[in-house]
Amino acid sequence: APRFQFKNGTLHAEDVSLAKLAREFGTPLYVYSRAALHDAWGAYARALAGRKALVCFGMKANSNLAVLNEFSRLGSGFDIVSGGELARVLAAGGDPGKVVFSGVGKQAWEMRAALDAGVKCFNVESEPELERLAQVASTGGRIAPVSLRVNPDVDAQTHPYISTGLKENKFGIAIERAPEVYRRAMQLPGLEVVGVDCHIGSQITEAAPYLDALDKLIELILALQSEGIHLRHLDLGGGIGIRYTNEQVIEPVVLFEQVFKRLDQAGLGDLELVLEPGRSLVGNAGVLLTEVQYLKHSDAKNFAIVDAAMNDLLRPTLYDAWHGVEAVDPRPVTDATPTYDIVGPICESGDWLARDRRLELHQGDLLAVMSAGAYAFTMSSQYNSRPRAAEVMVDGGAVHVVRPRETIESLFASERVLPQG
Ligand code: LLP
Repeated sequence: APRFQFKNGTLHAEDVSLAKLAREFGTPLYVYSRAALHDAWGAYARALAGRKALVCFGMKANSNLAVLNEFSRLGSGFDIVSGGELARVLAAGGDPGKVVFSGVGKQAWEMRAALDAGVKCFNVESEPELERLAQVASTGGRIAPVSLRVNPDVDAQTHPYISTGLKENKFGIAIERAPEVYRRAMQLPGLEVVGVDCHIGSQITEAAPYLDALDKLIELILALQSEGIHLRHLDLGGGIGIRYTNEQVIEPVVLFEQVFKRLDQAGLGDLELVLEPGRSLVGNAGVLLTEVQYLKHSDAKNFAIVDAAMNDLLRPTLYDAWHGVEAVDPRPVTDATPTYDIVGPICESGDWLARDRRLELHQGDLLAVMSAGAYAFTMSSQYNSRPRAAEVMVDGGAVHVVRPRETIESLFASERVLPQG
């Protein structure tokens, strides 16, 4: 059952009305549903049941400690891309032994922190990174578990900004070069070769690109085997899309059944399957609640100016992304109802959240921008000196503030003017 739905005509998160949350905590407000997190987790858990597999939540999608802690207690590992994300995992009680460390620009201090924590592996994205990792590990008397992120050169058929598996992207090592780089990794001190990984993009709605990538990775694994290089895991990355509007999405059970079938056929049924889903675990577990400040009508356009903005949800501005917008207490639409662009107060024409939405609106109405559980708060900023909005998590009839609204003073509390005189 959807966790954000209308009950008695008013939009709820589980058993709590959004209007009540707005009264209590103010707007803009990110509202998450704990049950929706568990639902999304369940889809992966069912798809992987009985197999050697590990889900490492792509925490860049939503790194609130409460969210991390929920997934950690469900057995999740984490895909991190910075020392900051590692610190969050540890603060949330996550298991560092289930952490994979991705990213093209790992610095020496981040490598050291990850080695100290004892991560599951480094997803190495280039040859110079491999050399640095060997150096950092051997200097510290450590062994770094290594997986090479290969670029399988498949088209994920998604937005170019979030497509990462094509040759022209900055990510990963070209798959043709991979055998050579594995040989180098076998020679270098301080490294243990454990796996291979790829991540081909985000908001993917077709199984085919995954299976194309898988076939190329299987071929590579078998070639390495014939040279005596044996891998323990295969990481297929994240990228499964969610329904923002009417997308047909991939069901994890359908996709992974095919993945396991191919692995078994290749004689690789023993390999551990690692996944890095972000958006599909959290995207539809959150909404951004906002209040209409002004309605502005002109010959060309009608604007609903709300108190949330591009600093709270950058996806429309950055990717032209479509998010559903629901009135929390919808009024009947009539022939006279206009279409509105839902825009924020920021001084940029690009500050919009939704366009051409037919809604009967009054000043003071509450709107819920849907599917704001992923890449919303984590991409937020304080542009225009707007304190970041609070985050709350609903659990049945209970509400927990998982991050209070930032105060205005905190925005510049650490800033200093030059000495005077
Ligand atoms: N693993 C790696 C190495 C990644 O780079 C990403 C996302 C993920 C896993 C998780 O992918 P997901 O399952 O969430 O698709 N800000 C954009 C999305 C950027 C994705 C970046 N990498 C957006 O709002 O659509």
